[in-house]
Amino acid sequence: MSNQMIAVRVTAVNDVAPKIREFCLAAVDESLPPFSAGSHVMVEMAGENKTYRNAYSLMSDPADTSAYHIAVRLQDESRGGSVFMHTQVKEGDVLKITPPANLFAPHWAAQKHILIAGGVGITPFMSYLPELQRRNADFELHYLYRSNQTGAYRQKLADDLGERFFSYDSDNGQLCVVQQLLSTLTPGTHVYICGPDTLIDAVKNEAAALGIPAGIIHYEEFAAPKPGKPFLVNLAKTDKQVVVDSESSMLEALEAAGVEVANMCRGGVCGQCVTKVTDGIPEHRDDFLSADEKNSNQCVMPCVSRAVSDSLTLDL
Ligand code: FES
Repeated sequence: MSNQMIAVRVTAVNDVAPKIREFCLAAVDESLPPFSAGSHVMVEMAGENKTYRNAYSLMSDPADTSAYHIAVRLQDESRGGSVFMHTQVKEGDVLKITPPANLFAPHWAAQKHILIAGGVGITPFMSYLPELQRRNADFELHYLYRSNQTGAYRQKLADDLGERFFSYDSDNGQLCVVQQLLSTLTPGTHVYICGPDTLIDAVKNEAAALGIPAGIIHYEEFAAPKPGKPFLVNLAKTDKQVVVDSESSMLEALEAAGVEVANMCRGGVCGQCVTKVTDGIPEHRDDFLSADEKNSNQCVMPCVSRAVSDSLTLDL
């Protein structure tokens, strides 16, 4: 995590869908740094017994840095962060965020952009849209949601985008046939997916079945680290020991013990937190390391991965 955390004041809180709340964040001291379409920030939340750090996409027009906007879905199996945002954070509060980072930028050389959003996965595309429109780019937005829970901004999107907007409300029996959608891709098209892993996997698998090159399929998922059995981390350089309980990630346990590990996505995709393992067997849960790297067990991504063995020794 960056040492240069930015203090922001919550200037508005609005419910934009039954389970999604939008927060407007303005700078407390200085102006907010610029960001590009697809960027995210990490929000640090000081809970009673634990500090939560969750990544949220910036949703506003990148041309306007007078404030940042994020939207948070209340997760059914929340580890605490989304509940904190929904129940504790109110107008006037000050939060700390990291400077924006971008792991999901549009590929501007593409001839056409197909955006596929699932539920709160609409958020990164909210910053894509003004840029795509400014550049007169060819694009379509396909928005899959459940109107009883999600579906934020759909009326505005329909009004703004007209025939570029395709809406599928599964609570009303409207389903997106991914195979049909992908079978009409024209040359030079790039596809972007943001949403639950089931949606990302469905698009990736269908694309593979249709022979679509993996290089034109881009996706972003900020998955919360999944729980697992507790284990012990030995820190070789400092001779410390850190217990990772079943609900915390290895990264969270290290941070709570005052050990700094670089990180950006906290979801196993960016590669920032890669850490050398000198003993023990990791349980690799990331999408960053190659199969060979995972098999060698010489490094681990502590933001999502855990241990098969009772303990791991890290080169920290
Ligand atoms: S922080 Fe991105 S892979 Fe761990």
